[in-house]
Amino acid sequence: MKIKNICCIGAGYVGGPTMSVIAQQCPEITVTIVDINAERIAAWNAGDLSKLPVYEPGLDAVVAEARGRNLFFSTDVEAAIAAADMIFISVNTPTKTYGKGKGMAADLKYIELCARQIAAVATGDKIVVEKSTLPVRTAETLKSILHNTGNGVGFHILSNPEFLAEGTAIADLHKPDRVLIGGENPEAVQALVDVYAAWVPRERILTTNLWSSELSKLTANAFLAQRVSSINAISELCEKTGANVDEVARAIGTDSRIGPKFLKASVGFGGSCFQKDILNLVYIARSYGLHEVAHYWEQVIAMNDHQKRRFADNIVQAMYNTVSGKKIAFLGWAFKKDTNDTRESAAIYVADALLNEEANIVVYDPKVSAEQVYADLDYLGTRSPGENRKLVEVVTDPYDAADRAHAIAVLTEWDEFKAYDWHRIKDHMMKPAFVFDGRKLLGGNDLPSIGFQYYAIGE
Ligand code: UDX
Ligand code: UDX
Repeated sequence: MKIKNICCIGAGYVGGPTMSVIAQQCPEITVTIVDINAERIAAWNAGDLSKLPVYEPGLDAVVAEARGRNLFFSTDVEAAIAAADMIFISVNTPTKTYGKGKGMAADLKYIELCARQIAAVATGDKIVVEKSTLPVRTAETLKSILHNTGNGVGFHILSNPEFLAEGTAIADLHKPDRVLIGGENPEAVQALVDVYAAWVPRERILTTNLWSSELSKLTANAFLAQRVSSINAISELCEKTGANVDEVARAIGTDSRIGPKFLKASVGFGGSCFQKDILNLVYIARSYGLHEVAHYWEQVIAMNDHQKRRFADNIVQAMYNTVSGKKIAFLGWAFKKDTNDTRESAAIYVADALLNEEANIVVYDPKVSAEQVYADLDYLGTRSPGENRKLVEVVTDPYDAADRAHAIAVLTEWDEFKAYDWHRIKDHMMKPAFVFDGRKLLGGNDLPSIGFQYYAIGE
């Protein structure tokens, strides 16, 4: 099997960059990314590459190279499915907000819709690849839908979870630690191996059975999130004991068995994956009656919620136990630097807690729009959209955010924050000027000597 034509359903943070890199690296394969969201597709086709719907360093160059050559963005889902030998499913799988498994299980309705659409349109054999993160044994569902269409078309199902991290997606895709492909049919697995082998060294392409592949993705995210919660748990202890969490992280990270990565204490992890995937793991464990396993992983989320709450509580406490009517400037709203993605960002929850204390918040983020900030707050449903717009302002200049503010809270570790003129910022703030650093970003700026009351996580 030699793949000539790929279709990807879902032009989001995963589908967009992943398929763009496949198209860039495999010029002989036609790659069409489809999405039901016409606005998103129009943005992917925009002449101005700064308008792409996903912000990722280096993505614009990859799209510029491949788009129109062998990379296409379209809303014609059926035509793209019909033409493809291999179809990636990269639609979103949010946590269910209704019914059984509400707040825990992954909502697979979009996956099922995709499978039904593929079954309806296909007239020849196809390889269907799960790219979205899914509960273990979702492939079974896909198989059942696809094989029961009765039109005599053969389908092979593969699991190929994506491990890229947002903000470094292009680098991660160009040089992945590993590519994981799970499947039952050796030819279908080999066909996908051959696609990646165009640029990924063969020893980094791992093949497993379907279920190991599906479970590995959830496990990887659970382990990564667990490291963040573990160091965050220690950060609280550091604040009480006079230890410094960065020093502790360095001291343990030099042990080669522990390793230095993913030990940065923070205001809490966010992003579309960690919480969702752990909830999913917990739900699956519980559904098999594995209550200790479920309880164990649940604590990773409990710790993360605690860290976000604690950060907000500390702000209130340090500011003489009231922030009512005070202006608090948020530097950063995205869930990490170098992305415009705000899903599950700690900033949303910290803002919500401070708004409950009647604070006024002014947000500055270099990549997040005002509409997105308001959409995130409205989605919580804590207060009306009108109130959110009254209490929260979003500005495009960080110095405007800080002007006459009682405090600054650093929620995202954008590099540019370190380069600001902190003398100028202090001069325009209310006194005492507080900085609450949720990312331990400004340690090198020596804010106390400028005259700030500086509080950082874990010290
Ligand atoms: C998604 C999932 O969230 C994640 O679990 C998985 O690992 C990869 O896919 P992401 O790309 O970040 O991640 O999601 P998102 O940016 O929301 O993109 C999904 C896209 O699919 C959206 O643009 C949506 O319009 C599209 N979609 C959804 C379809 O085209 N058809 C559908 O039926 C449903
Ligand atoms: C994650 C996984 O890393 C990736 O492999 C998977 O495909 C998707 O989920 P992503 O969510 O994009 O990627 O970003 P990641 O870099 O993992 O960060 C997740 C969250 O953890 C962010 O909010 C980040 O700020 C936080 N984090 C990360 C910390 O607080 N401390 C750290 O040391 C590392």
